[in-house]
Amino acid sequence: MSDNILVAVRVRPLIAREEADTPPIHWQVGSDNTIIQVEPGTGKILPTSYKFDRVFGSEYSTCDVYAEVAEPIVESALAGFNGTVFAYGQTSSGKTYTMMGDKRNPGIIPLAIKNIFRSIENTPNREYLIRASYMEIYNENISDLLAGRETRGKSLSVREDPTGAVYVADLNEECVNCEEKLLALMRRGEKNRHTGVTNMNERSSRSHTIFRLILESRERGEEQGAEEAVTVSHLNLVDLAGSENASQSGATGERLKEGGFINKSLFMLGRVISQLSEGEPFVNYRDSKLTRILQLSLGGNAKTAVVCTVTPAAVEQTNSSLRFASRAKAIKNKPVVNEVVSDACLLKRYAKEIMDLRRHLEQERNTDKAQEVEQGSAAGPLTFIVWTRDSVAKPQALRLITTGAID
Ligand SMILES: Nc1ncnc2c1ncn2[C@@H]1O[C@H](COP(=O)(O)OP(=O)(O)O)[C@@H](O)[C@H]1O
Ligand SMILES: [Mg+2]
Repeated sequence: MSDNILVAVRVRPLIAREEADTPPIHWQVGSDNTIIQVEPGTGKILPTSYKFDRVFGSEYSTCDVYAEVAEPIVESALAGFNGTVFAYGQTSSGKTYTMMGDKRNPGIIPLAIKNIFRSIENTPNREYLIRASYMEIYNENISDLLAGRETRGKSLSVREDPTGAVYVADLNEECVNCEEKLLALMRRGEKNRHTGVTNMNERSSRSHTIFRLILESRERGEEQGAEEAVTVSHLNLVDLAGSENASQSGATGERLKEGGFINKSLFMLGRVISQLSEGEPFVNYRDSKLTRILQLSLGGNAKTAVVCTVTPAAVEQTNSSLRFASRAKAIKNKPVVNEVVSDACLLKRYAKEIMDLRRHLEQERNTDKAQEVEQGSAAGPLTFIVWTRDSVAKPQALRLITTGAID
């Protein structure tokens, strides 16, 4: 099976500063999901036009965008397919409004969180384990937005495990079991993003954020420890740097440094998308942090959507964003359900650990019973502690997951 990347364009309403320029409208939404360049003032139709899977005019809400673009990907992620939603566009075109939103107009991330827990509630025959991480790539440094005070701002490295899977070393992955906790975690990451930053607008226009959920699930009621299928999928919700930071010129080396106002990850994203759309045999995934981390979402095992946000008031920037989005349309991915039959997932490991504990407790009980008989006293409840590894890719890091008592 092969799926094209779904590409949608979202045109935002004019903002105050644009209203001042008269007449500012350079683009209008046509019929059949087209967007057409028009002459400002007269509205005369110009020859440049683009067609996408979906074009949302300014009258559409984020909920509308979510329902058509993101919800199918979130639902697929719950069924075991990797999924990614990117927001691409120039600074102030509406990327963060679309991905994060605000209190009154929640974005794709909070809507996805709500969707996930509602779907889990409606699927009583499966059990889920959800882990979340939140990272930022700024100036080719990856930082963990969920890091504690002592490690905040530390630059993390991208590694490969023996199977070739790419992961970010030392990135926190927190287990969450309800909507409120996941929303709180998202807000914590957002707050950390702002901490100690002197010019947030400048930084957010040049940084990428990846909010990632790892969803593991399996059929309920299966015998613990049996060779049951566990599905593991990644859902990435990505707010990219402003597209004006990408260079169209093909600059390399020194000029790719942030100081030269060219964002390497964004530049490489454009190059990777061009290579994939032209069917080139070699794709430079490894040349930037962003393309490396999101390799599977670009021509790989994932369902992917791009929401290209534009303003009708810009000519060249909107045109260049639309050209990028057109190239992305040609990319084909090959999504498959990620079933894990080995030990490489937490649900399975939990099941095994719990079974081992049960066995151990059983043995203890038998010993206690023997002692009780000997001493004539009753044994108190036995306590247990389950430790687990922080992530599949980091087998060295053990973390306390739960403690409890068994009578
Ligand atoms: N679809 C929209 N409807 C209403 N206001 C929007 C919309 N998209 C963006 N805005 C507003 O435009 C401004 C810039 O949007 P923002 O999401 O911060 O841009 P970006 O993240 O692309 O730099 C914000 O004030 C935001 O509230
Ligand atoms: Mg933004």
